[in-house]
Amino acid sequence: MSATAPASSAYWLPFTPNRYFAEHPKILAGAKGAYYTTSDGRTLFDSLSGLWCSPLGHAHPAIAAAFARQPHVLDFAPSFQFGNPQAFALAERVADLAPGSLDHVFFVNSGSEAVDTAIKLAIAYHRARGQGQRFRIIGRERGYHGVGIAGISVGGMVANRKTFAPLMMNGVDHLRHPWDPAEMAFSRGQPAWGAHLAEDLERLVALHDASTIAAVIVEPVQGSTGVLVPPQGYLQRLREICTRHGILLIFDEVITGYGRLGTPFAAQAFNVQPDLLTFAKAITNGTIPLGGVLVDRNVRDTILHSDSPAHAPEFLHGYTYSGHPMSCAVGLATLDAYASEGLFQRAAELAPIFEAAVHSLRGTPGVTDIRNTGLMAAVELAPVPGKPGLRGFTTFEHGFNNDILLRAAGDAISLAPPFISTADQIHSMVDSLRLAITAAQAAG
Ligand SMILES: Cc1ncc(COP(=O)(O)O)c(C=O)c1O
Repeated sequence: MSATAPASSAYWLPFTPNRYFAEHPKILAGAKGAYYTTSDGRTLFDSLSGLWCSPLGHAHPAIAAAFARQPHVLDFAPSFQFGNPQAFALAERVADLAPGSLDHVFFVNSGSEAVDTAIKLAIAYHRARGQGQRFRIIGRERGYHGVGIAGISVGGMVANRKTFAPLMMNGVDHLRHPWDPAEMAFSRGQPAWGAHLAEDLERLVALHDASTIAAVIVEPVQGSTGVLVPPQGYLQRLREICTRHGILLIFDEVITGYGRLGTPFAAQAFNVQPDLLTFAKAITNGTIPLGGVLVDRNVRDTILHSDSPAHAPEFLHGYTYSGHPMSCAVGLATLDAYASEGLFQRAAELAPIFEAAVHSLRGTPGVTDIRNTGLMAAVELAPVPGKPGLRGFTTFEHGFNNDILLRAAGDAISLAPPFISTADQIHSMVDSLRLAITAAQAAG
């Protein structure tokens, strides 16, 4: 396969500067374990588990086997009016891993669809209990909830939103994000400062009145804008305020779900119970698209026992590929692998090694903050004056041209290595990042 990607290529790459890419193509041609291979034969350490989705590493034999087997059993079944054994089995397994009364699962195909679905569930729930006037959804600055209209509306990434401003959902407002480098730079784990920022929600309640607010949606750890770790007590306070005002709390766990913090979900790591929880990515180790929403028992019961006739669907929502037997078979094999290889536990054990390694970058010229929790971290770099994002981009380029696949979030570099990584691999990942940061600094 050729490494060339001519400007005339038919393939339009997502979230990629396509004109630049045509001149500087980056083709990943193979992957095994914690490494990718480029089309020119170089090996790159996978420092972000793909796009946060492959904690088991690549080419896992049990997943490959489940993938190969399932088309011979059931390749597709209509998702409307019919069930299939793989979807039932996986829903049970997902619910078993979830905290508290999150015991029902609505399957979708991606994180963006999971967010859309969770928001619709929140609205449908309030309507079913006679509070249809609750239509507002509160998101958060710097939040990323995918690219659907609902997701960019509640999301807080300005660049993703500005072009589509006329399409934004009505009734959305935003909490401030909880990152303040003046107070929390170089915190290890949850910053001690900042729980009071959750009181922003009380301000929005006072502004809009609780009777108009359906739900608050947050990522427990904001991933895509560079691993913003919630201050100690912050999520608990959000939970208390939501409960006091009858507002649903949605955790978007598309990145944090399935062991990234050493527990199945971040909800357990932070000991905060959401009413709805979105997941995707690592549920299939990234091998095949699958996402879903874990739904609290009371929310589901309220919607199911609304006044729709017995022959009509209670919740008019779903995708052709909801509960796809292929995805669910792969999901089952993935959950089996996490369990049999003890990988959530392994992520928890690697976390302090990872924390120490990442924080060893403190003092490297140009590093202005380091944030981490579990097996996720970000290293914030001083921007090139007047050119936000360029430093992060140049660092990523240096990594790619050497031995590491990096992910830049603006001028921060995010890290989320596979759970199968060894301590040696973690150390050499950080060494490679140090070299890339230094080279990008030297480039000016
Ligand atoms: C928290 C969060 N929500 C939603 C999404 C969107 O997921 P997808 O790209 O599968 O639509 C992402 C993707 O990174 C995410 O991090």
